[in-house]
Amino acid sequence: MKAVIDVSGLTFSYGAAPVLRGVSFRIQEGERVGLAGANGSGKSTLLWCLAGLLRAPGVRVACPGGLGFVFQNPEDQLFMPSLLQDLALPLLQVGAARDGAREAARECLRRFGLEAYADEPAAHLSLGQRKRAALALALVRRPGLLLLDEPTAELDGRAVRLLAAMLREVAVTQVIASHHVEFLARVTDRLLVLGGGTLLFDGPTAEGLADAALLDRAGLV
Ligand SMILES: Nc1ncnc2c1ncn2[C@@H]1O[C@H](COP(=O)(O)OP(=O)(O)O)[C@@H](O)[C@H]1O
Ligand SMILES: [Mg+2]
Repeated sequence: MKAVIDVSGLTFSYGAAPVLRGVSFRIQEGERVGLAGANGSGKSTLLWCLAGLLRAPGVRVACPGGLGFVFQNPEDQLFMPSLLQDLALPLLQVGAARDGAREAARECLRRFGLEAYADEPAAHLSLGQRKRAALALALVRRPGLLLLDEPTAELDGRAVRLLAAMLREVAVTQVIASHHVEFLARVTDRLLVLGGGTLLFDGPTAEGLADAALLDRAGLV
C-alpha cells in the first residue's frame, strides 16, 4: 500500500502560539480516517495544510487525480445558476469538452441522488442535499483523496445517516474532520484525535471512541 499522506513533525502557527505542534502520521491508500477534537483544536487548520491551502513544511501528499475538498459551508462551493454547471465547471477548467463535462456532471449527480435537481441552483435544495451536492462536486474529477470539514454540521439524523452511507460507498481515501463521534464511528476505521496542538490518539476508531478518559481530555464529551 502506498502512503497518500505523510505528515512529519508538522508545526503550524497563525500568530505567536502554534496551533499544531510536531504532528506526525501517515495515511495509506483507501483508508477512511476521522479527525476529531474540540472546537479550535486545529482540525480545519490541519485539513488546510493537507490541501496545500496553508503552506506547512513536513506535509507530503501524493495522490493521483489530485484531491477533493468539501468545505464546511456548501455555499462556498456551489454558486453557479445550476448544479449541473457547478459540477461541470471543474471539468471544463481541466480542458474537458462541453458535452463530455455535462454528461459526467449529470452522471455524478445521478450517483448522489440529485439528478432531479440538475437544472436548479443549489440555493433551492435542503442543507442535506447541498452537502451531498458539495460531495458530488468534490468527487467529479475522481480525486485520489477526499478531505471533508465538518460534513454533518447542522444536518438532521436522517441526513447524517445518508451521508455516512454514501461515504462508505466511495472507495477513495478520506480524511474527515468532525466532532460528531457517532458519525465518525459509522464512517471511519481509524481515528486521529487532536488536543493541545498534538495528536492525543491515533488508532482504531472503535478503540478511541470507547476511551472515556481520552474523549474527556479531548473535550469531545
Ligand atoms: N485564519 C486564522 N487566523 C488566525 N487564527 C486562526 C485562523 N484560523 C483559525 N485560527 C485559530 O486556530 C485555532 C484552530 O482553529 P481551527 O483549525 O479552525 O480548529 P477546529 O477546526 O478544530 O475548530 C483556533 O484557536 C483558531 O482561533
Ligand atoms: Mg473547523
